[in-house]
Amino acid sequence: MIAPASQTDHLPYTLSMADQRILSPTATVPDEDEQTLSLRPSSMDQYIGQEEMVNRLRIAIEAAKQRNEPLDHVLLHGPPGLGKTTLAHVIAHEMNSRVHMTSGPALNKGMDLVGVLTRIEARDVLFIDEIHRMPISVEEFVYPAMEDFRIDVRTESGPHARTVQIACKPFTLIGATTRAGLLSSPLRSRFGIVHHIRYYEPAELRAIVHRNAQLLDMPMADDGCIDLIASRSRGTPRIANRLLRRVRDFAQVRANGSTDAKVVEDALGLEGVDALGLDELDRKYLRAIAGVYQGGPVGLEAIAATMNEDAGTLEDVVEPYLLQIGFLARTRRGRMMTRSAADHLHLKITLPDDQSLFSAE
Ligand code: ADE
Repeated sequence: MIAPASQTDHLPYTLSMADQRILSPTATVPDEDEQTLSLRPSSMDQYIGQEEMVNRLRIAIEAAKQRNEPLDHVLLHGPPGLGKTTLAHVIAHEMNSRVHMTSGPALNKGMDLVGVLTRIEARDVLFIDEIHRMPISVEEFVYPAMEDFRIDVRTESGPHARTVQIACKPFTLIGATTRAGLLSSPLRSRFGIVHHIRYYEPAELRAIVHRNAQLLDMPMADDGCIDLIASRSRGTPRIANRLLRRVRDFAQVRANGSTDAKVVEDALGLEGVDALGLDELDRKYLRAIAGVYQGGPVGLEAIAATMNEDAGTLEDVVEPYLLQIGFLARTRRGRMMTRSAADHLHLKITLPDDQSLFSAE
């Protein structure tokens, strides 16, 4: 089984603020991932939330099993931290099959894929994370594999080039992406099942925090504690699980292991997470737009340069939630912060009231 890229690509680098943040939905250290793994649901019955998607998947899985066929290829898209990898494991579990994990950036050339595909058993799942980052040369290997369970390997180049066809077992490709728009249309059209994983509803997140607090053996004084953690988790289970662990540490060290609303407030306050779940990186982002660009409109690259952060990280990790809660508008002329964002941070700035600026990209 190929390890996920997050566990193999350990290059020495300086941690940016985005890497260090407690709220970042992108996986960071492997041991934290292993702990999260134990909190992950392993079957559809344990899976909380995303009801519409789960219902549709249940039917597709049941039908495929009855026909003794692999499940149709699945594309999962949506913001990071919402459990695309978890869902791939759940699907494989329901299909009584194994998952082979890789990622778009880990597949440098077509032959990288040949190795995995030849090891796959019938009805196994091949999970490709960040599939939008898969090179076009690899994409060409993927098409015949998806359509005809066949790999075309070119043996020589130039005028004597020959293509050898290797059969692989019928499998299910599950592709995950935070940027569905970057997928080429030939690739997108080869997925029979396409789902958007949305941010979790407050009630769904409360149920997840409740379940996982029990799994972590954390006695909570009342449901208010669960609500506090859920409401600051930005609709994202991975963040909820991280906050839960920080609260557990705080309770253990400062409160003899007991968790009440004050302990939760203090623990989250210590982590710099505010009442809406914003952390220092979100605030730094909004303050950069307000302080340097008078609230916008401003281009993403300019904000990233001001903050000394990577533009892609800001786009994937910071902006989706700010857009979701109406703190940010993406307009044709650039990013703009909204009045509610300025009020939340007590920023005294005059924002343009020209509504045409707010028309979407
Ligand atoms: N832990 C993380 N995500 C979950 C989910 N969707 N259901 C149950 N537990 C989870």
